[in-house]
Amino acid sequence: MEHRAETETETREITFASMIKNPIYNKRDVLYSLEPPTGFLHRVAQKNELIMELAPILMGSAVSCIFVYGNPGTGKTALITDLMKELESEAEKKDVNLKTTYVNCSENRNETAILISLLSQLDPGKEYPKMGWTRAKAVSEFNKRLSDQNTHLLIILDEVDYVLKESGDDVLYRLSRINNDVEAKISSVIISNDVRVADYIKPRTQSTLGRVKVIFSPYSADELYDILRERAKFAFKPGVVGDAVLKKIGEIEAQRNGDARKAMEMLDACAKIAISKKRSKITFDLVEEAEKTLERDQTLNIISTLTQHQKILYLVILKHPDKIVAGSDIFKMYLEECESYNLKPLSERRARSFLINFTELGLIESEVGWLESQKKKTRKIIVNLDNAVKNKAIKILRDSI
Ligand SMILES: Nc1ncnc2c1ncn2[C@@H]1O[C@H](COP(=O)(O)OP(=O)(O)OP(=O)(O)O)[C@@H](O)[C@H]1O
Ligand SMILES: [Mg+2]
Repeated sequence: MEHRAETETETREITFASMIKNPIYNKRDVLYSLEPPTGFLHRVAQKNELIMELAPILMGSAVSCIFVYGNPGTGKTALITDLMKELESEAEKKDVNLKTTYVNCSENRNETAILISLLSQLDPGKEYPKMGWTRAKAVSEFNKRLSDQNTHLLIILDEVDYVLKESGDDVLYRLSRINNDVEAKISSVIISNDVRVADYIKPRTQSTLGRVKVIFSPYSADELYDILRERAKFAFKPGVVGDAVLKKIGEIEAQRNGDARKAMEMLDACAKIAISKKRSKITFDLVEEAEKTLERDQTLNIISTLTQHQKILYLVILKHPDKIVAGSDIFKMYLEECESYNLKPLSERRARSFLINFTELGLIESEVGWLESQKKKTRKIIVNLDNAVKNKAIKILRDSI
């Protein structure tokens, strides 16, 4: 009996037209908009806390640095942006001369850049140089601009980890004491997605920083399901996606990092696969397929960001025929591989620290335990990639070392 089964290897032809004329999407952008279509879900505690902390601004007092932290995709930026708007409109009603400013520190990685960004938000009509100012110049211009005591400025520093890691904590230190230096009242909210952010802050700054910390915990499976369902209503045509699919995605992402952004990305990946398969519904089986696609993309993206020696080390791990390998074996192979590339190898210690990086990046898993081939307890390196991804990764590594 002959029938054409739809296999993984069979690649169907798609066209732009078929992608656009689809029975799936209604408004895809809703999946990625910062503002939720019908308001925030499951963040009442955090919202209350922030409102309580920020309310003194409406009574004319400054509030010292409020620290907000939580894993990526837990709603920090979205909720704060929303609250800023609310606060602005309340301030207007109360005749408080409030200006709110927002700086994304991944784009402004040192104090000078941050101050220039703040200044240009305070005076949108004025041209500020993107480069060429010293820090002293930026500080003095900033202080001059804030010499008016009727102004209240709220500064949001988002993704602050970038500045702390690249330029130290000077900017926070200055912020924590700024109300001694200028006439205007300055309040600030500092957002970080690295829980170890405190490691980057010197004790002198920690002691003057505000003590308020608002924590955005990872979302649970049920919470993610609610968030997904809300967006799905607007993003897709009616009846396209069922509850079981949304629940499944919620479960998968809750088990990982409880990241709402990732959950939405997975739903979108399912939708794209459905379209490419000319289906009119997003079904349960597509979730698994989407997961594989995303995993592959993620691994391959990370690989391209590795340094040369990290690439060599990861290459030897991938080339090893066993799925579980001893750390010491890996180092030996790394030495050989370096020789074949005519490169001076790094120390074993450096190589070990790379293995820790790889674990953090999710490229490998590692644990200390009994390894039969070594007949002793040792660090085991485990690679959980399917062969297709592995081969592609090896090719990318070889081409780019
Ligand atoms: N509670 C929620 N209800 C509805 N949508 C949410 C909720 N939390 C997050 N989202 C949505 O998830 C996406 C990611 O949220 P957001 O950008 O605020 O995360 P974040 O915590 O700032 O992450 P990062 O640390 O990576 O900057 C946004 O589209 C946001 O609207
Ligand atoms: Mg954010």
